[in-house]
Amino acid sequence: MSTTLVGKRILLIIGGGIAAYKGLELIRRLRERGADVRAILTKAGEAFVTPLSVSALTGDKVYTDLFSLTDEAEMGHIEMSRDADLLVVAPATADLLAKMAQGLANDLASTTLLATDKRVLVAPAMNVRMWLHPATQRNIAQLRDEDGVLFVGPNDGEMACGEYGPGRLAEPLEIVAAIEKALAGPTFIPLPGSVRADTRLLPAKIGKDLPLAGKHVLVTAGPTHEPIDPVRYIANRSSGKQGYAIAAAALAAGARVTLVSGPVSLLPPPGVNLVPVETAREMLEAVRTAMPADIGIFAAAVADWRVADAGAQKIKKGAEGTPSFSLVENPDILATIAQDKARRPSLVVGFAAETEHVVEHAKAKLARKGCDLIVANDVSPESGVMGGDRNRVHLVSASGVETWPDMDKDAVARALVARFGEMANATA
Ligand code: C5P
Repeated sequence: MSTTLVGKRILLIIGGGIAAYKGLELIRRLRERGADVRAILTKAGEAFVTPLSVSALTGDKVYTDLFSLTDEAEMGHIEMSRDADLLVVAPATADLLAKMAQGLANDLASTTLLATDKRVLVAPAMNVRMWLHPATQRNIAQLRDEDGVLFVGPNDGEMACGEYGPGRLAEPLEIVAAIEKALAGPTFIPLPGSVRADTRLLPAKIGKDLPLAGKHVLVTAGPTHEPIDPVRYIANRSSGKQGYAIAAAALAAGARVTLVSGPVSLLPPPGVNLVPVETAREMLEAVRTAMPADIGIFAAAVADWRVADAGAQKIKKGAEGTPSFSLVENPDILATIAQDKARRPSLVVGFAAETEHVVEHAKAKLARKGCDLIVANDVSPESGVMGGDRNRVHLVSASGVETWPDMDKDAVARALVARFGEMANATA
């Protein structure tokens, strides 16, 4: 069983509806995977499951409107909404979705959903006509496309009311999988204003005075996959986390962001323009298409080589013995863009992942590639950087070397973006 949920804090909002009992099953599935679950039961939810059964499964008290005054004294709904890593609404009724889309806050669940700075995953469940109603569809489009809310389900099937169609709550294990996926990416959502200094992930629309307002930032991230044949490929261990965190931080700093990403299991930060690619050559093409940019941040772990003649059919074991491959060098995307006099962004940043002599290699790379700054890090297996959540970087530029302390990748991203902003504005 995967360990991605160990120690994660999920705030589960159980709405009303016959599917509420599956919320109980969801709590069990999450807890057996090591997650901490705190539950809010709406008034409508209480008609279907009891607070006692919810609290027996979470091992915590259950939060309802009835108790909200005493709860508020112990832990305010604001704190409760921020304390979680993810908010999950299951089942999400048409009423709850409408409240979320409108920003209503007239009970504990809707107030908490409005106050949170974390991502929200909803698992809708309702009658098929209610789901298909233009009002519900409008609300869903608003939540999904504008507000960055994540959805799982609903599934098609027979309803408790005897009708058939979309509206059945996703199965608990499907919701668990969606939760794991949501938690793999950045968990903060954009917040307007300086509500809290450490969560300044602002959408580009807000705040013309932000450091990167009006700038187009291009970020490459993740690994590339280089095919051997239609089913096999050469890859590397890059998770894309640092690049995705930089894209989120650049967006927060007011930029328009294009994220050209190799295959990763992360959700793109809401609001960035994601261009998914597989190979190095596709990545170069996508980068060229996305130009012009004011700042280019090349954080992808691009495969240095590809197989010369990737087979059009699956290579079979047998008569011809063990296959051997010849490799050809991939285009260097960073060097190509940094040395393109006509279209070079005014600030070009490269990354250097090394297992030894980190700073020396980074200095050589700065000159060889023609970029303004190299962010270098140690990716030796003992550093835990590749695929991990933390990073310790050295900034290597013409003005010298700076070594930053070990920080989580979101904090590194925010600090880097602040620096890119200073550099870009100095050269503008
Ligand atoms: O040469 P090396 O792979 O160590 O350089 C790393 C830097 O160059 C990273 O910024 C990476 O994104 C970029 N790069 C690239 N295209 C390649 C290889 C590396 O953009 N083919």
